Amino acid sequence: MKTLIIPSDQIPEAAAVIRRGGLVVFPTETVYGLGASAFNPVACTRIFTAKGRPSDNPLIVHIASWEQLDEVASEVSPEARQLAQAFWPGPLSLVLPKNPNVPDIVTAGLPTVAVRWPSNADAQKLLLEAGVPIAAPSANVSGAPSPTNFEMAKSAMLGRVEAILQGDDAEIGLESTIVAFPGGVPKVLRPGAVTVEQIAAVLSVDPESLPYQVPSEGRPVSPGLKYTHYKPEAEVQLFSQSAELLAWYQDDRKIGVLVLEGNLPENIPSAWEVLKFADWESYAKYLYASFHEMDEACCGLILAQLPPANGVGRAIANRLGKAAGKAV
Ligand code: TXA
Ligand code: MG
Repeated sequence: MKTLIIPSDQIPEAAAVIRRGGLVVFPTETVYGLGASAFNPVACTRIFTAKGRPSDNPLIVHIASWEQLDEVASEVSPEARQLAQAFWPGPLSLVLPKNPNVPDIVTAGLPTVAVRWPSNADAQKLLLEAGVPIAAPSANVSGAPSPTNFEMAKSAMLGRVEAILQGDDAEIGLESTIVAFPGGVPKVLRPGAVTVEQIAAVLSVDPESLPYQVPSEGRPVSPGLKYTHYKPEAEVQLFSQSAELLAWYQDDRKIGVLVLEGNLPENIPSAWEVLKFADWESYAKYLYASFHEMDEACCGLILAQLPPANGVGRAIANRLGKAAGKAV
């Protein structure tokens, strides 16, 4: 398929592709999304094919107005509304009872729909011009890290979609926080840049009550939780203390290191590719791009520093854990 590259000053052209039932890759503040009209079941089915995504893993529906919220959700509880008012537009998805307008393919047959109002200006323009909510998973091939810049999005989706909107790098770099209300109780299904601590403060609940534990049996609340995610080609190993790096000095693979500035031991092997970050926010922002860069540089092993599990560190640790195939 021929893929049109659309510059960000020609958003109406991308909106027309959405209205015609096409697939458009577009920037958001979290990661690039792979979008189609949320009310067009045929177009939404094509999202699953383009990504190689299992059809039991539902999509997030993006909106850009309170009216659109009512078009996709049938009910918004007071707690959900408090969170929406506190964090939208922004990197938060809310799982709400679905409006019958939303086709079953979008929600994988679930009675609920995940909804997000992104803050990225290009995403908002696209939504308003298209005039329909846009269903969009991250624009990666299923299982791979999400694209956080135009080049990554292009390399994942060229030839698989009608258009790619060329926007800025994602400011946040990790997927949105997902909050659901199973049995009426707020639970964070996926940590993100809206932190557990911030959500707890808005809802006046104990932060410890929020993280969702995947049940060992039965269907998890979020089908996506059971799939491997965010994995680069290279093996990923995690470390907390710089001294742990010594264990890899004799390894003969090409090694990449992701580390916070000031946390590197002296005399590490000169062949290692080291990426240093000023703080955890920039670590989050460039995590997936670093995975991509290290794969391109044919690294066989990535050694990634594990953050403390609070604030945005919780989201980084969650993605690193999945990339390394470990519970952290
Ligand atoms: O930041 C983001 O959320 C990005 C951008 C493009 O907005 N999108 C994104 O979509 O990360 P995706 O498809 O890669 O992740 C969506 C997650 C999946 O784990 C899915 O299982 C979960 O949301 N999800 C979607 N609908 C759900 C629902 N009704 N109930 C529970 N989980 C749901
Ligand atoms: Mg994804």
